[in-house]
Amino acid sequence: MKHFFDHYRLKTPLSKKLFERAIEVMPGGISHNIHYFPPYPLFIKKTKGSKIWDVDGNEYIDLWMGNYTHILGHRPRVIVRAVEKQCKEGIHWGLVFEKQIEWAELIQKLVPSAEMVRFCCSGTEATMYAVRLARAFTGKKTILKIAGGWHGANPDLARGIKLPYEKEESLGLLPGLRKYTKIIPFNDVFGTLKVMHQNRKDLAGIILEPVVGEGGFNPATNEYLQMLRSETKKLRALLIFDEVISCFRVGLGGAQERFKITPDLTTLGKILGGGLPVGAIAGKREILEKTSPQKKGQKWERVLIGGGTFSAHPLTTAAGLAMLYYLKDHRQEVYSLLEEKGKKVRKGVQEALDQEGVDAVVTGIGSLFQTHFPVQKGVKLNSPHSINRFTDIEKRENEFRIRMLTKGVHVMHGGGSLSLSHSDKDIEKIFQATREVAKEMRNTVES
Ligand SMILES: Cc1ncc(COP(=O)(O)O)c(C=O)c1O
Repeated sequence: MKHFFDHYRLKTPLSKKLFERAIEVMPGGISHNIHYFPPYPLFIKKTKGSKIWDVDGNEYIDLWMGNYTHILGHRPRVIVRAVEKQCKEGIHWGLVFEKQIEWAELIQKLVPSAEMVRFCCSGTEATMYAVRLARAFTGKKTILKIAGGWHGANPDLARGIKLPYEKEESLGLLPGLRKYTKIIPFNDVFGTLKVMHQNRKDLAGIILEPVVGEGGFNPATNEYLQMLRSETKKLRALLIFDEVISCFRVGLGGAQERFKITPDLTTLGKILGGGLPVGAIAGKREILEKTSPQKKGQKWERVLIGGGTFSAHPLTTAAGLAMLYYLKDHRQEVYSLLEEKGKKVRKGVQEALDQEGVDAVVTGIGSLFQTHFPVQKGVKLNSPHSINRFTDIEKRENEFRIRMLTKGVHVMHGGGSLSLSHSDKDIEKIFQATREVAKEMRNTVES
């Protein structure tokens, strides 16, 4: 019997060739670690709606959707038109313009915590500045983050991402990091309270995703969020929601609107830029104003944010504005359709795997889902840690991905995000592919 890699290799010879060229000039052949998967990644030629085409001419239903960015589908007309129009007015100025205000005003209107907004170029930057702001505003140093949580390669938060959490995430980090960035268990009220109180004197803030991207798109429980909100208030620490994935996705106003908990600061990205590079920090006026160059006083009394040669770039602003207007104007239909599609896909994928007897757990919320392959039966996968600990991410997840690709479906972490452009026919095809893959995976386990 052929190995599943062989089927993939047969289908994608030009991607293989390009990868061989890429590794000679870019470490690992990529510019974002998540772009690499064994034996080599697909090289993409074009995209439209729910589909991507690789350099070999193969068509796939995409569920990665530009790192969960393309909520309307790939290359939607509304965004393309906005970018084309902006190109005629100018590409990059390094000067202010009215659309930036309109974009920020729209965020202010839509996102509950957004009294003010500061744009940057990526989610990584946004979380880095949020941490700096929390430390500056409270005059304290310790930041708590979730075990297994990912907030970009921000050095302040490069701790406790992958197991074993006690080990460094990277070479080149300062030793002070472990002293001032500490780990809390997601959705564990008592475990988290314990760490909060151990650090009560120096607690500057807690950062978490209310729906964890690298943790199965599991939502935080209401009890957990309520506890974080009230305890951070008591300890005069900031609550920071990283909504780089969840804002404009699980609801127009993000998870904070859906779960009715307002943080002090919110980090934004992805959908916000309509598919162009983006990040933003939103939050309380009194905190964000600490960054203002208008603020009187010495530099050590302000918070340094940016540079940012390309912050609130005209093309990003035009695309982001078009995206937010579209979502706002079609709010009812967009979010009810996405909920419906997400629910249907989670149920159908789980059923397909169950029917073939493959041990797998589908998790998620709204239009987001992931599939995990537990290494231990009957475990509850409700946090990044439970997923890291009890599932076979390295092997089974990649096997699922490669096998799904050979059936014409592109998944990330066994799932991804649905967009408005995913049709019922696409969803049927996802189920069909899952059934076929599940059959193959069961047979390989048995043989
Ligand atoms: C929750 C979360 N925060 C921050 C980031 C970093 O964003 P970026 O990749 O734009 O730097 C990501 C990226 O995937 C993310 O998922």
